[in-house]
Amino acid sequence: MTELADRRGATRPVPDIVTELPGPKARAHIEFDARYVSPSLPRAYCIVPVRGDGLVVEDIDGNRFLDFAAGIAVNSTGHGHPRILAAIGQQARDLLHFSASDFYLPIYARLAAELDRISPISAPTRSFLTNSGTEAVEAAMKLARYATGRQNLVAFLGAFHGRSYGAVSLTASKAKYHARFGPLLPGVYHVPFGSRGLDELEDRVFRRLVPPEEVAAVFVEPILGEGGYVVPDAGFLPRLREICDRHGILLIADEIQSGTGRTGKMWAIEHWGVEPDVVLAAKGIASGLPLGAMIARSELMTWTAGTHGSTFGGNPISCAAALETIKLLESGLIENAAERGEQALDGLRPLVRRYERIVRDVRGKGLMIGVQFDSAETGGAVQDACFQRGLLVLGAGDDAVRMSPPLTVTEEQMAVGIRLFRDAVHEVATTHS
Ligand SMILES: Cc1ncc(COP(=O)(O)O)c(C=O)c1O
Repeated sequence: MTELADRRGATRPVPDIVTELPGPKARAHIEFDARYVSPSLPRAYCIVPVRGDGLVVEDIDGNRFLDFAAGIAVNSTGHGHPRILAAIGQQARDLLHFSASDFYLPIYARLAAELDRISPISAPTRSFLTNSGTEAVEAAMKLARYATGRQNLVAFLGAFHGRSYGAVSLTASKAKYHARFGPLLPGVYHVPFGSRGLDELEDRVFRRLVPPEEVAAVFVEPILGEGGYVVPDAGFLPRLREICDRHGILLIADEIQSGTGRTGKMWAIEHWGVEPDVVLAAKGIASGLPLGAMIARSELMTWTAGTHGSTFGGNPISCAAALETIKLLESGLIENAAERGEQALDGLRPLVRRYERIVRDVRGKGLMIGVQFDSAETGGAVQDACFQRGLLVLGAGDDAVRMSPPLTVTEEQMAVGIRLFRDAVHEVATTHS
């Protein structure tokens, strides 16, 4: 175990596992939860957190974990960053809620102006703010149809865009997201992620199924998130942009997981020098408060008053957290994400040769790091072995494990995370047949 002082200067080591896992209080809580909470929630493993500080999460039994999951890539500035807490506290005292849909809310417009400044779109943009990622996707689907007068949409196999009816119709990462919920939204076409999928889009979809002039938008995650942290081949996004331009189709970048600094650039699509027409953000944008954003070229925002809105969307506290998050991202966290990401890939790549029987690939950009295994069972076993060692990671795709630590992760914390992950892989490689 390694000594890692947290921001309050506590000297307990991290990780520090002091009970069996799950501990007695965690087990009791899981029983309580099972009585009252919707069984639809997926629950990856039995962490029952009650406190967080920086990269450290403490569970209900007092076990301390190193958090390389960050609430599924959400706690971008770590748990309880003092500047985020101060911004939230100040805004809560000033104004807790006033619906931006029906009235003017200064901080909403201030955040929209900031999003315009940082967006990967060089033309002027306007923003619609939401409470979640899926709502940002819904807003983009509605705007795409409204602005183009076309109905059909294209998305990629392996993509995850959310769980509300429109967004889940685009989602194609696991069949269980669709099972027994149909019929879904009509007019959605899926092709494989990557250049091969674009051949299929042109040769099969546009030639045989729907003419491109009836397609409103293509939704794409520049790096697949839930689909396994898959980085596309170099030609994919530029060619997709070119196809969209040729047919007047909107390119909508879902950067809900890959955006806001996580990959070492503000937006992942910037790694390929491609500009979308609409970019979607959520997850890490407000350091853990619920906020989503649909940022679109202003000239697309032809919809008129009352066509779309939200009671809570862009609530002042989330906006305050987002404004402070953007300042933190721009004062070193994006560079840190790039450097720590390199450190992670350098530390993890040797696993592919060393454990070639079970490790298939180590990939990613910045702090979107994926390790692919030979099977879902192996990936699950590694995830569990990490948990037992006090490292929080999360499965992704069919057979990968993802690491998405806060962008505040230090060199030392990254080194500890890599060592624990390697130990977990070693254990699984030597004990599972
Ligand atoms: C790329 C992407 N889009 C959309 C969503 C949906 O966001 P939410 O869960 O906030 O609705 C997610 C969530 O994991 C995501 O990763």
